[in-house]
Amino acid sequence: MTLADKRILLVIGGGIAAYKGLDLIRRLRERGAKVTPVMTRAAGEFVTPLSVGALAGTKVYGELFDRDDEQDVGHIRLARGADLVILAPASATRMGKMAAGIGDDLAGAILLATRAPVLLAPAMNPAMWTHPATRRSLETLRRDGLRFVGPNRGEMAESGESGEGRMAEPLEIVAAAEAILATGTGPLAGRHVLVTSGPTHEPIDPVRYIANRSSGRQGHAIAASLARLGARVTLVSGPVALADPPGVSTIHVETAREMLAAVEAALPADAAVFVAAVADWRTEGDAAHKIKKGTEGPPALSLVENPDILRTVGTGSRRPALVVGFAAETRDLLENAAAKLERKGADLIVANDVSGDVMGGEANTVRLVSRDGVEEWPRMPKGEVADRLALDIARRLAETGTP
Ligand code: CTP
Repeated sequence: MTLADKRILLVIGGGIAAYKGLDLIRRLRERGAKVTPVMTRAAGEFVTPLSVGALAGTKVYGELFDRDDEQDVGHIRLARGADLVILAPASATRMGKMAAGIGDDLAGAILLATRAPVLLAPAMNPAMWTHPATRRSLETLRRDGLRFVGPNRGEMAESGESGEGRMAEPLEIVAAAEAILATGTGPLAGRHVLVTSGPTHEPIDPVRYIANRSSGRQGHAIAASLARLGARVTLVSGPVALADPPGVSTIHVETAREMLAAVEAALPADAAVFVAAVADWRTEGDAAHKIKKGTEGPPALSLVENPDILRTVGTGSRRPALVVGFAAETRDLLENAAAKLERKGADLIVANDVSGDVMGGEANTVRLVSRDGVEEWPRMPKGEVADRLALDIARRLAETGTP
C-alpha cells in the first residue's frame, strides 16, 4: 500500500492515450490511493465518464461551471484537497496553455490553483513533441516545478508512426507518483539535492563532437535513490539514452558550460552530487561551420579548458552543506581522489577504478574518500551503490546539523 490514503486528483486529458487513464485509476487504487477523476471536454471523446466513475468509485468532475460544485468554488476545493495532481495524457495544447497560465476550463483552473505537486504524462505525435513551441512549454513548466513522466519511444496508437511521444505506461506513472509522494516522508524530506549525470558533448563543428563513454546510469540511479528517500531532486543530465528518473525534476543539457549554468540556476541546494563525466576540454571558437577535408591534411584542433563544475560549486559562495564528487581513475586511485577532495572543495569523493568495464557497464566498485579516511565497498550493481550512497548522504546531512 505505497499510496495508502493519498488523495490523487487525476485529470484525464484529450487524446487516444486517455484509455490508459482507466488502467491508471485501477493501479493507483490498488496501492491505496483515493482517486478523484476530472475529465476535460476532449477526454469525453475517448472514454466515458461512466467507466471512469465506475473504476474510481466516485463522482467524475467535468465542467468548470457545474452549478452544484461551483457554489463553493469547486475547482479551488478540488485543487486544494489533493496530495498530488496527475495530468494524463497531457497534450501539446494543454502544455502550451499551462505554460501560459491559461485556466479556461475546470482542468486548467485546477492546475493553476493547486499547491500540490503536479505530474504530467505527455502524449502526442513525435512531430508535435519535438516542435520548438512544445520544447518551450516543457522548459517553462519544468522551471515552474512541474514533474514529468515519459513520453516513451514507440509506435503511436493512431498513426502507426514511430518516435518519441507515446504516453508512459500506467505502472511508470504510478512509480513516478510514488516517488513524488515519498517526498516529505523519508530521511531526506525537505532537502533539495542536486545531481549531475552523463557525459557532456562538446561540439567540434555542427556535425562532430567530443564525448566520453559515460552512460549516466550511476548518476540517474543516485537521483532516483535520493528521491525515494524523500528529497526534492534536480538532475542535470548530459545526453544519455535513459529515461528521466521517476519523481525527479530533470534538466537536459549538452555541453559543460550549459551544465554549469543549469547547476547554478538550480542552487541553493542542501547537497550536490557531481556524477557527470564532464569533458575537460572543448574546442576553441564557435564551431559554426562544418570543417571540410580540404587539401591541407587533418585540422589541428585547438582545445580550451571547460569550467570545473564541482570546483566552481564546491568553492563558491552558494556551496551546499554537503558536496560529493566522483573520481574516475585508472591508476593511483586513492592519492588522486584525496587530491581532488581538497582541490575541488568536496566533502566526499566516490572513487572508482574505470580501467575495467565501469563506464557504460552495470556494476561498480567504489571507495568513499573523506577527510575521515577511506571506506571500501564491495563490487555491486549501480542501483545498489546508489541506494547506499543516498543513505550515506542522508546520514551525513543529518550530522552537519543544517536544518
Ligand atoms: N567535474 C566537474 N566539472 C569538470 C570536470 C569534472 O564537475 N569540468 C567533476 C566530476 O563530475 C567528478 C569530479 O569532478 O565529480 C572528478 O572528475 P574527474 O574527471 O575524475 O576529474 P578531473 O578534474 O577531470 O581530473 P583529472 O582529469 O585530472 O583526473
